[in-house]
Amino acid sequence: QRHLLGIEPLHPAEITALLDRADHYAEAQRRGDRHGDALAGLTQVNMFFEASTRTQASFEIAGKRLGADVMNMAMQASSLKKGETLIDTALTLNAMRPDLLVVRHPHSGAVNLLAEKVNCAVLNAGDGRHEHPTQALLDALTIRQAKGRLHRLTVAICGDIAHSRVARSNLILLGKMENRVRLVGPPTLMPAQVGELGVEVTDDMAEGLRDADVVMMLRLQRERMDGAFIPSEREYYHRFGLDAEKLRAAKPDAIVMHPGPMNRGVEIDGTLADDINRSVIQKQVEMGVAVRMAAMDLLARNLRERVNGV
Ligand code: CP
Repeated sequence: QRHLLGIEPLHPAEITALLDRADHYAEAQRRGDRHGDALAGLTQVNMFFEASTRTQASFEIAGKRLGADVMNMAMQASSLKKGETLIDTALTLNAMRPDLLVVRHPHSGAVNLLAEKVNCAVLNAGDGRHEHPTQALLDALTIRQAKGRLHRLTVAICGDIAHSRVARSNLILLGKMENRVRLVGPPTLMPAQVGELGVEVTDDMAEGLRDADVVMMLRLQRERMDGAFIPSEREYYHRFGLDAEKLRAAKPDAIVMHPGPMNRGVEIDGTLADDINRSVIQKQVEMGVAVRMAAMDLLARNLRERVNGV
């Protein structure tokens, strides 16, 4: 692949290869080893048109650990403020010959559009409600490490599915790796075509979590809601917020995941989120760096092979 724009175009073997590479970096991270210089001499530009803590920081750390020259564009202070378009911004940066562009944008499809206009490799750091591929990959690595496999697992994805690019990328990835996925949440927060996704759907937490190996919680993504009806936060927490009582429906060794940022007391109980016997939320953050190192390493190899005509 030239770019990493989504999980959709990836073959299961490519997903496994990327996770194996990420495992290598995760182990090096754990041991405190040096990380090598897979990106030495390359320029990585991070363009975040939407707020981020985890994704932006981990892409920056990943690039620096592998020796890239990393520049974070301050999009709020860029010439977009003077009316320059996304495409003109991309063409301008392209003329400076970066090797890797990491892009987050509030509009679905914006990152794919940008990728058509530049010569370098583009990594999608989340576009609208479309895809967030590195999040799904880091979730997959976390699951594989906790469960020892990434197939034939029952995964309940709970909450605001309709507005979630994390849910979408995870659904695609988990399906490709032959897992059973259940979507759990209010009908008003389910995608319009949910019946065509080929997964189980319920608005009952006990039913959705029954014998699940993995419980993945999502926040209410108000910034992407367009008049969708949601109950009050109190009512929402009562019906859909994950706490120790609701988690009893899942397998006794089920893990609890959340991509972050989380809203404690809305979609998840704070004590459960911090329970290191059940929650792998901090592990997800740790795996975020390893997965982004692996993704940029693999794209840089492809880049060099193209340049060298291999
Ligand atoms: N999970 C995730 O994308 O978090 P950020 O918005 O903080 O990057």
